[in-house]
Amino acid sequence: MKKLNKLSLLTFTILASKLLTSCGGVPEETSTVGKESKVFAVGEVLEMVAKENDVTRTLYTKAIVGKGKKQGMKFDEDWRKDDIEAGPLPALFLRGVATSIKKSPVPLGLYLGSDYPVNAANKFIGKQANLFEKIKVDQKPQFFYDEEQKLHTAMFADLAGAGACVSCHNDHKQSPKTDWELGDVMGATTWQYPKDSLTYKETVDVLKSYADGTVDIYKQYLKEIGEFKESDKPEIGKKWPEEGNFLPSAEVFLDSVKKLSSYETMKHLVVSK
Ligand code: HEC
Repeated sequence: MKKLNKLSLLTFTILASKLLTSCGGVPEETSTVGKESKVFAVGEVLEMVAKENDVTRTLYTKAIVGKGKKQGMKFDEDWRKDDIEAGPLPALFLRGVATSIKKSPVPLGLYLGSDYPVNAANKFIGKQANLFEKIKVDQKPQFFYDEEQKLHTAMFADLAGAGACVSCHNDHKQSPKTDWELGDVMGATTWQYPKDSLTYKETVDVLKSYADGTVDIYKQYLKEIGEFKESDKPEIGKKWPEEGNFLPSAEVFLDSVKKLSSYETMKHLVVSK
């Protein structure tokens, strides 16, 4: 958990220093549109939201899926089917977030791909496939402008950060690779946005649409549990699977995500500006 807090602190530091710079009357290089000056480069914003995603994804994978499985909870790729009483796998949790963002007015795109995907539809092609080769070597993010889609694009390594990532992919019957190891670059998250710079409000909206997306998919999971007929339903409330057959409520889950991330803090800063 300490590591996660450090990440949020980093986001916070970036935001705070940006704000101080702009309040201190230092002229911004970027153009001023309307009343709000464009202060964030698209790469910076995508980096921030990618970090929020790391925090959320790790929390979901370790505290819900990893610990939940030990309590006998099930997670399945077909979790939405009526006859399957299970929750979403981490990748499908992410897909749920992406779908929710797509429905929002925020033009943010999110995709999880790999060169050895369990689901062939997740295989990187073209420029993203080339850049993924680089990411596998140095694990550094890659930024480029996708001319065809007219979208600013950023790719971030998706690491095997938990034993559950490795064992599930290696054992999966559709997996084209069965020797994943802890710490491997298993894939990358690709983020896209149409503009090259964002105002504070647009930046907050991007972070908020991501957070709203996580709540959205988490609530869908809890709703699915409500419809379980055969399985033992976990008690939903304040406790986590670590303590037994429990799942945090959407509020408790979001609260943890918020504690580990920092968009709320930023919202305050923007409002008091
Ligand atoms: C219990 C099984 C399971 C666990 C745990 C799991 N995955 Fe997956 N993962 C899958 C399945 C199944 C898919 C394909 C989902 C789909 O239909 O798109 C997938 C998709 C992915 C993809 C997209 C490319 C592909 O393989 O289709 C990446 C990258 C990925 N997972 C990485 C991870 C990482 C990193 C972790 C740990 C943080 C993790 N997975 C945990 C089963 C799992």
